[in-house]
Amino acid sequence: MKKTAIIATLVLATAVVFISCDSKRQPGKIYMPDMAYSRAYESYAPRDSTKFTMDPNDAGNRIFYNNMPAAGTIKRGDQFPFTVPNDSNGLINLSAQVKNPLAPMAGKELEEAGRLFNINCAICHGAKGEANGPMAPKIGGVKSIIAASPGFSDGRLFFVMTYGQNNMGSYASQLSKEQRWRIVQYIRTLEPPKTAAPAAGAAAPKADSAAVKK
Ligand code: HEC
Repeated sequence: MKKTAIIATLVLATAVVFISCDSKRQPGKIYMPDMAYSRAYESYAPRDSTKFTMDPNDAGNRIFYNNMPAAGTIKRGDQFPFTVPNDSNGLINLSAQVKNPLAPMAGKELEEAGRLFNINCAICHGAKGEANGPMAPKIGGVKSIIAASPGFSDGRLFFVMTYGQNNMGSYASQLSKEQRWRIVQYIRTLEPPKTAAPAAGAAAPKADSAAVKK
C-alpha cells in the first residue's frame, strides 16, 4: 500500500512537470517564471520608462541602463586606456611615465605609420613634421613637430595627439591608440640624427617652456 502511494505520487509529479513544460505560449501556471523567460533586453529597443532609467541618480528606484558598455570595457585586442588627465601636469609629468607599448617598427609597419602621418598630420605639419603643410597658414599657430619632439617623451607626443593642443584638435577618434603610438615612432624617424655632443641650447628646454602655458 505504501509502495503504491509512492509510485502514484512519483507518476503524478512527473506528469505535472511534463505538462507544465508543454508550451511556452500557453504556459498554464508558472512556477518561477524567471527560469522560463529570460530577462534579456534588446540593446536599442524602446524601454518601459516606468521600469528603466538612464539617470544614474535614479538608479535605486528603477533599473539603470544607458546603452553604454560598462565603465572600463576594452575592445577586444585593444590597448589599455590612456588614463593621463588632460591638464598641464598630465602633459608634462604624467605622460612622460607612459611608455610606447609597441615594439620598434621597420619595413612595412613603418611605411604604414608614415602613411598615417601623411594623411593625418602632414596637412598642417608638412611631410617632414615641420610647420609648413598646405593648411598651416589657414589654421594659424602650427608648430614644428620635429623642432619640439627631441625634447618630448613618447607619452607627450601621444598626449598631444590624444587631447589636441590649442589650435590642434584631438586625433583620438580618427586614429586608434595603436595608430597613434605608431605615429610617435614615425616622428622619431623624422628627427635629425642625434649627434654625440649636442650643441648648447638644444631643443629640449625650449620645447618645455613652449608647453607650460597649457
Ligand atoms: C589642423 C592642423 C593640424 C593637424 C592636422 C595636426 N596638427 Fe599638430 N599642431 C597644430 C597646431 C596649430 C599646433 C600648435 C598648438 C599650440 O599652439 O600649442 C600643433 C602642435 C603639435 C605638437 C606640439 C608641438 C609643441 O611644440 O608643443 C605636436 C607634437 C603635434 N602637433 C603633432 C601632431 C601630429 C602627430 C599630428 C597628426 C596626428 C598633428 N599634429 C596634426 C595643428 C595641427
